[in-house]
This record gives sequence, C-alpha cells and structure tokens, in this order.
Amino acid sequence: MTSSLVLRTPAKINPVLEVLGPRPDGYHELRLVFQAVALYDELVFEKAAEGVALEIPESPAPLAADDSNLVVKAARLFLREIGKGAGGVRIRLQKNIPLAAGLGGGSSDAAAALRGLDELFQTHAAPGTLLDLAARLGSDVPFFLYGGTGLGEGRGEKITPWEEGFEFHLVLVKPAAGLSTPAVYRSGKACYTRGDRAGDFRQVLRQKDIRRMAEHLFNGLEPAAQFLLPETAELKEGLLKAGALGALVSGSGPTVFGLAEDADQARRIADRLEGGGRTVVATKAVSSGIQIL
Ligand code: C5P
Repeated sequence: MTSSLVLRTPAKINPVLEVLGPRPDGYHELRLVFQAVALYDELVFEKAAEGVALEIPESPAPLAADDSNLVVKAARLFLREIGKGAGGVRIRLQKNIPLAAGLGGGSSDAAAALRGLDELFQTHAAPGTLLDLAARLGSDVPFFLYGGTGLGEGRGEKITPWEEGFEFHLVLVKPAAGLSTPAVYRSGKACYTRGDRAGDFRQVLRQKDIRRMAEHLFNGLEPAAQFLLPETAELKEGLLKAGALGALVSGSGPTVFGLAEDADQARRIADRLEGGGRTVVATKAVSSGIQIL
C-alpha cells in the first residue's frame, strides 16, 4: 500500500481570454482558452495520523503554509467530503511557478492536492466529484484536472478539453511585482467582448501555425493589468522587439508571454529579457496535466 506519492503539476497561460460581462454573483462571465505549459510545481504527499500539514521549503515570501494556502484548503475539503476517516496527510510543496503571476500556480497546486489525495488514499473519486470540489476552490482549479488545452466558460470553471493543442514554444516574463486578481477585475479597465474569439482560435490551433496564432492572441484583462502595472506594457513591447511573434498578458497578469518560432528563438528572447528582478522562463506548451512521478 502506497504511503507516499510525488506529483508534478504545470502552469498555464491564456492565449485568449474574453470577459463577457459582470455576473450577479460578483464574478465575471468568461470565455477563455487554457494552455498548460512546461513549468511545474512539485508536491510530495505522505500519510499521517491526522490533520493536514504543509511544508514549503524555501517558501517565496508572501506564500504562507497555513490554512490560507489553497493546498491546505484543497486537502481539508477533500478529507471532509471524500476521504472521511482516511487519516491525515503531510504535504511538501516545491514552488517553481511564480506567485500572483497569472500563471495559475496556486490553482494548479490545489488541483494536484485533490488528485494526490485521491491517489494516496485510493478513494477513486468520480471525475465529476473532483471537478466539483475544484470549482469550489477557485475558478481556474478545474482546468488543471485536465491539463493540455481547453476552453473555459462560466467563471472559467466549466472546461471542455480540446484535442487541437500542439507543442509551441514561448517565453514567460514576470515582473518583480505581483497583481491581485480581484483588483484587476475591479479596476474598471477590463474590456468586455462578445466571446467569439475562442472559437476562431480553435480553428487557428488546428492549422498548427504559430504566426497565425500570434495574430489571434487576445486578453480583455490586459488593459486592466497594464493600467495597474505599466511595466506589463513595457514587457510586451520588449518581447516583441526581441523577436516574439506575438505577446500578451497571461490571465490577470502580470506575467507577459511571448510566442517563439522554436526552442532556440525562445532561449534567445529569454536572454534579452533577463534582469531588473524579473523572472524569465523559456518553455513550451504541453498536452499533459498533473503527472505522478
Ligand atoms: O475564483 P477565484 O477565487 O480564483 O477568483 C478570484 C477573484 O477574481 C474573485 O473573487 C473575483 O474578484 C475575480 N474573478 C471574477 N470573475 C471570474 C474569476 C475571478 O471576477 N470569472
């Protein structure tokens, strides 16, 4: 019987993010494309007598390992709803995905916690049950139970996986500062659109043409992120000047990603953007999600 387990879980970008409008529940109605990228957090799970203990070695400053952490919330929710009487868990989280970045790191970790506990305790939860718990933890969490490429609707929690994804190369640039997602939505600077761009983007994905893809990038939250943190506009400009085929704020920012022709060009662009306290990563799109190592 397994008493420990190691998972890795990816970051995401959103090549298309349309905000359709505000909802009565305080959220915004979205139509967006999720794409998993090859930048991973790692989680180690060990059975314990009781409770949930989280350890984050070399914790990046603002990330608390207490009850406010989404991994702890996910583990407690799982043990309450699915793993009743299963015992407790110790989780070690190795963070590689930058925090408050628009890369879905916290959501990815939460999804990995649900999947990890289901595996550790062999509870065999139905996929729909895990998706339901994921949606309660955050709008971006359900996507990470799929990984790869997918359409998000509603708050972003209703996922339709797409088969059309392919392994394109890109550069992620995150300024030293972070951005708060609620602040971006509340800024009054989001751009509302009709929601037909995700469908167009799917057609472009089918052609596996990175240049056409670059022409179809869109993020209705980008004006808001640029308003709150003008450096994101400078980084977009910097990526394009360094040769990126297209560049866009990811999610609610402040990470900006730039599309590259191939792995070599991604590395060259990354070298040009290094410095100024930024986190710069040359990476690629992946068709997978959470992986058991
Ligand atoms: O769902 P999640 O907890 O990740 O959302 C964080 C915040 O982002 C929400 O409290 C809300 O302010 C904003 N949000 C939104 N519309 C969405 C997703 C998030 O307004 N579809």
